[in-house]
Amino acid sequence: MTCPEKEPYGDDIYTEPDADPDTLSNLGPLAPLAGVWEGPGGKDEHPVAGGIERDDFVERYELQPIDPQTNGPQLLYGLRYHTHIVKPGEIETFHDQVGYWLWEPATQTVILTLGIPRGQVLMAGGTAAPDATEFDVDAAVGSEVYGILSNPFLDQMFRTLSFRMTVTVHRDSTWSYEEEAMLAIPDRDEPFSHIDRNTLTRVGAPTPNPLAQPTAGDEGAGIGNRRSKGGTLP
Ligand code: HEM
Repeated sequence: MTCPEKEPYGDDIYTEPDADPDTLSNLGPLAPLAGVWEGPGGKDEHPVAGGIERDDFVERYELQPIDPQTNGPQLLYGLRYHTHIVKPGEIETFHDQVGYWLWEPATQTVILTLGIPRGQVLMAGGTAAPDATEFDVDAAVGSEVYGILSNPFLDQMFRTLSFRMTVTVHRDSTWSYEEEAMLAIPDRDEPFSHIDRNTLTRVGAPTPNPLAQPTAGDEGAGIGNRRSKGGTLP
């Protein structure tokens, strides 16, 4: 009998499924996010000594499809992203963030990996229908799946207890997010809600993933095929 935890993967944890090389056609609820986006109307709330500071920000968010990824029987399609944020009219980086948005069709799961140059990484997850126009991911400190890791200073002084992000895709092809990190700060009684919101408008189309580009030739579908021919994955 198959353990519930093994669903839908089965007992063979090594054999890889065939994947469709065209990632852009397999992104489920992430599909509308592919491309290059700008959002001049961002709103940030962050902690400062003795209180809260609110800032407007300008964002450029790029999300590009990657080749399908497998962990044995687990198949993920995804977007590699980079978002760069400045205050209006400024050059200096206000916030920078990189990672992947991943979609697992078999479990209808969305995964966000997030790294920021404060010395902090997290992975958040959630479930969504393939055609969902709104979905959430979340993470909690101390969890070994969908967790948060901070450098020692941040862990002591600005400990991120939890993170959640809601993405909403609008009818006019724009999309919005709201992300909230709950920070435990020693001089405060209650966790601080560090919250950021923005709406993004498309300024550029996505570049097809390497396997979906014409130069991928007629090697046929599937990363399994490439591997068996001794190819390396981009
Ligand atoms: C649009 C997105 C974001 C913007 C604009 C932003 C901006 C800021 C700003 C201005 C500060 C104040 C400290 C400073 O000036 O250096 C801050 C603090 C902090 N942010 Fe963010 N942030 C964003 C997203 C995030 C995310 C996603 C995380 C991770 C979950 C995060 C974690 C932190 C932490 C731990 C601090 C406390 C460190 C400190 O205050 O020095 N931020 N953020």
